[in-house]
Amino acid sequence: MIVKRFYITTPIYYVNAEPHIGHAYTTIVADVMNRFYRLLGYKTFFLTGTDEHGDKIVQAAREAGTDPKSYADHISGLFRDTWPTLNVRNDYFIRTTDPEHIKVVRYILQKVFDSGDIYFSSYKGLYCVGCERFYMERELVDGKCPDHDKAPVEREESNYFFRMSKYQDWLIQYIDSHPDFIRPERYRNEVMSFLREPLEDLCISRPKERLNWGIPLPFDDNYVTYVWFDALINYVSALKYPDGPLYREFWPSVQHTIAKDILKPHGIYWPTIIKAADLPLFRHLNVHGYWKIDEGKMSKSKGTVVRPLDLVSKYGVDAFRYFLLREMVFGLDANFSEEALVHRLNADLANDLGNLFSRTLAMTAKYFAGKVPPFTAATDDIDVELKKQLEEAMDAVAAEIPKFGFHKALMAIWECINAANRYVDRVGPWNLAKDATQHGRLQTVIRTLLELNRVVAVLIAPFMPETAEKILDRLGCPKRALDLRLAEDGRWGTLEEGRPVSKGEALFPRIDFKEQVMKESIPAAQSATEQTPLIPFDRFKEIDLRVGVVKHAERIPKSKKLLLLTVDIGEERQVVAGIGQTHAPEDVIGKQVVVVANLQPAKLMGYESHGMVLAASDGETLRLLTTESAVTPGARVS
Ligand code: MSP
Repeated sequence: MIVKRFYITTPIYYVNAEPHIGHAYTTIVADVMNRFYRLLGYKTFFLTGTDEHGDKIVQAAREAGTDPKSYADHISGLFRDTWPTLNVRNDYFIRTTDPEHIKVVRYILQKVFDSGDIYFSSYKGLYCVGCERFYMERELVDGKCPDHDKAPVEREESNYFFRMSKYQDWLIQYIDSHPDFIRPERYRNEVMSFLREPLEDLCISRPKERLNWGIPLPFDDNYVTYVWFDALINYVSALKYPDGPLYREFWPSVQHTIAKDILKPHGIYWPTIIKAADLPLFRHLNVHGYWKIDEGKMSKSKGTVVRPLDLVSKYGVDAFRYFLLREMVFGLDANFSEEALVHRLNADLANDLGNLFSRTLAMTAKYFAGKVPPFTAATDDIDVELKKQLEEAMDAVAAEIPKFGFHKALMAIWECINAANRYVDRVGPWNLAKDATQHGRLQTVIRTLLELNRVVAVLIAPFMPETAEKILDRLGCPKRALDLRLAEDGRWGTLEEGRPVSKGEALFPRIDFKEQVMKESIPAAQSATEQTPLIPFDRFKEIDLRVGVVKHAERIPKSKKLLLLTVDIGEERQVVAGIGQTHAPEDVIGKQVVVVANLQPAKLMGYESHGMVLAASDGETLRLLTTESAVTPGARVS
């Protein structure tokens, strides 16, 4: 038997911001695709990770008061830890700082250099630091970078260039002859319109003196690799290109998933790099739109960054996944609001799916002591009609998911769920139960409903694995969502007769948005750069904290806040302390305090301060830090 393969990737996310709903969407989409192809029996590989080199990361680390590697370790960890909570099951998590990745980037650079497609030249142009690239005049909007709304700076540099222009005609022809290479069509058209203008060669290096947080070029150690040339290669380095078995196994079936913001690097740089490096091209580039908040861009400063983990803890992982996949038409922008999420949860999940499942189980309990009945009576037209609806849902799932038509697949499943709820109302099992001659018919009706619930669980498994598992469990046929196979588990009539089913709690309890959500609306995300970053213990050890005794204190003339202290920390130190509003000099003389002893001296209102006295403030009052009981002055605090 031939085993088919499927390989799906997400962008690797920059480690300059913590995960938000946009990252969550792409990653959940890739997870759904991965789960769907597994359901079809494919062997799959699913890759995500973090992009850690470049100016942006150096800047973010600097702002956070740490070094790029520690900063990258911290934020990369946040991404890695978010995915399991969203039930994302990636096979591998790549970091561009991984030594194996670095090796592959250098290998490919050398290969392309040797083939003559990389050359050295000088370049002068307009550079946007945010995008880490040079801009052409015509790409700017009112002289500003369209993404960052900032004027780029003029910069001249000698650098290495990749002969991207050489591949322009080839790329145009390839896209022309492979209409779904980039999809949906609007993004294919967008790439084609970029290609209508002459392609420039791509600058793929940065001089080390300007940026050293990058991968050194294998053929010139004075330069590091441009972050996009480094990052795109993750898609093959994760498979251990060129010799790894994973590369041979999965590369030919690769599909990339991205949002429209990074269309150009993926639609133009990447295919031409692949071509120059003499690798087969990817199958599809799947491009989605943007999640917006209140119809605007998510923004840290406006406090509109939506954190996935907050939503998951409030509404559950499956309600969150369902909402994202049902609400966004893949390729178009969508608006996120918590109210819309709650509305979908109540309507589609609690009312439609939850209700169908709970009434099916309640009737099985009531009429058949909670055991799966046989199909006794022959099927009626109405049963056939319902089954047809289920088949249509299965067809829609099979046709739409490979095209990323998640909302259409879900709509078809929900048409079937709603048809089943109408079926119950029309058949009225409670009336059949009153008539002993209808017992066989009642058995067929309930069995039909149980079977339908089971197949629906299998169909929703890629979207809502947790709910699928719950349903199957209660129907007496437990299975891990990732182990489901449509060919077997999607077959009609496979429930075991006489097997007990269990009702359990509601799958999705209804939520009163006004009462519950308004009270505790999601706090705006604190950006990772605003958050106190974690530091290694070694950095803490750099601070020399000592116990001191205040020998002398006086006010500094003309200052309400400052006191001039003489503190004995094993030696006498002059320290200026900003405690004058809460402490009089006589209050502090003789007190034991904690002093930062190795602070660079500073001058405050003309007085030198050789250290700092620690105090705690809750915004209202200020208290000096002291020791539990007397300690010899100069003792270390750790
Ligand atoms: N590091 C590059 C990608 C390199 S891939 C070889 C990068 N990183 S990023 O952190 O900025 O991530 C961009 C991606 O995050 C988008 O393409 C998309 O997948 C996701 N999203 C970020 N914001 C988004 C929305 N508001 N809406 C939907 N997805 C968005 O670019």
